[in-house]
Amino acid sequence: MSSIAAQLIRWHNQHGRHYLPWQGTHDPYAIWLSEIMLQQTQVSTVIPYYTRFLQQFPTIQSLAKAPLDTVLSLWSGLGYYSRARNLHSAAQQIVQDFKGQFPSTRTLIEQLPGIGRSTAAAIAVFAFGKREAILDGNVKRVFARYFGIHGFTSEANTLQLLWQAAEAALPADSGSGEIETYTQALMDLGATVCTRSAPRCNACPLQQQCIAWRQKCVDQLPTPKPRKSLPQKETVMLLIHSSQKLLLQKRAAKGIWGALWCPPEIDTDVDSVQHCRSHWGLKVQPPIALPALDHQFTHFKLRIYPQLLHVVSEPEAEQPQSIWISPADALKQGIPAPVRKLLERNFTANLKPKSLS
Ligand code: ADE
Repeated sequence: MSSIAAQLIRWHNQHGRHYLPWQGTHDPYAIWLSEIMLQQTQVSTVIPYYTRFLQQFPTIQSLAKAPLDTVLSLWSGLGYYSRARNLHSAAQQIVQDFKGQFPSTRTLIEQLPGIGRSTAAAIAVFAFGKREAILDGNVKRVFARYFGIHGFTSEANTLQLLWQAAEAALPADSGSGEIETYTQALMDLGATVCTRSAPRCNACPLQQQCIAWRQKCVDQLPTPKPRKSLPQKETVMLLIHSSQKLLLQKRAAKGIWGALWCPPEIDTDVDSVQHCRSHWGLKVQPPIALPALDHQFTHFKLRIYPQLLHVVSEPEAEQPQSIWISPADALKQGIPAPVRKLLERNFTANLKPKSLS
C-alpha cells in the first residue's frame, strides 16, 4: 500500500470522524444525498437537513414523484438550490433509465445531473466499495501540499497532476473495506487538520513526507488564485405587503434562483408605485427605501435595493406563479439566501415590517 494510504487509515482509526449519519449505511441514495448536501455546506449544518430530507423522501422513488416545490422547501436555508433541482431530476432519471436502481459504477453515476467526477467517485466508494479516487476542494489542498503541486487548481494542467496524485495515493484493491476508510480519512484530514488557514501540521500523520512542510511553503499551497473584480449589477426588490402578508413570485425554472420564490423585482429606473399598479393591479403607499444588501454570485455581484410598499387597496385574485404569504411561512419555502436575509432583517417576529413597528 502507498505509505500515504497506510498512514491515513491508521490515523483515521484514532482521529477520524466515525459517527456521521451517512456512515452507517451503504444505501447509495442516502450516500448520494449526503455527498450533494456536503458539496458546499459544512457537516454540522448538513446533519439536520439530511435527516429531515430522508424522513420525507426515504427512497429514490418517493423523491422522483415529489413536486419540485416540496423538494426546494426542504432545502430552504441550505443554499445553492441547483443541487436540489439536479437531485430531483436525477432521481427521475434513475427511475426511468435504471428502473429505480442506483447505478453502481463511477462513470455511470457521473452522467447524472449535478454529479461531477469526485462526487461520483465518493458514492462509488461509500456505497459500492469501488476503488476510485476523490478530489474535492479539501482533498486538492491536501495533495497540492503533500506532493508540492504548484499552480491554480482550476487549471487543466494542475488538475491533471492532482488527479494523477490522487490515483497514485489509493490503497491497493484489498477488498477489505480499506478504500472506504481511506477516502473518509482523506476528507477528515482536509476538514480538520490540513485546513486552508492555520493548518495543524503538528497533528498531521503525513507531516514528515509532506513536501510543502519540508519546503516551508504550506501557506503558499494550493496556489491562491488572484481575486478578479466581478461585474456589479443592481436590482430593486419590492417587499409589497398587505396586512401581514407579503407578495412573492416564483422565478423561471432556468437562470439564477431558478424555481425559487422571490419578491418582485424591477430595474432601478422603474417607478415602483406605478409598477405595482400596472403589473399587479395594486394601489400602494409611497415606498420606504430599506438599506441595500450585497450578494455575490460566482460571476457577478448583485446590489439589492429593497423597497417596502404597503398595499392600500385589497389585492385582487392571485396571479399565476405568485402568492401572498406571511414572512414566517416564506422562510419555510425555497427562497434565495439574500431574500431570507431581507425578511429576517426587515420583519419582526410578529411579522410586522420593522420600519413600521
Ligand atoms: N464532505 C464530503 N463528503 C463527506 C463525507 N462523506 N463525510 C464528511 N465530509 C464530507
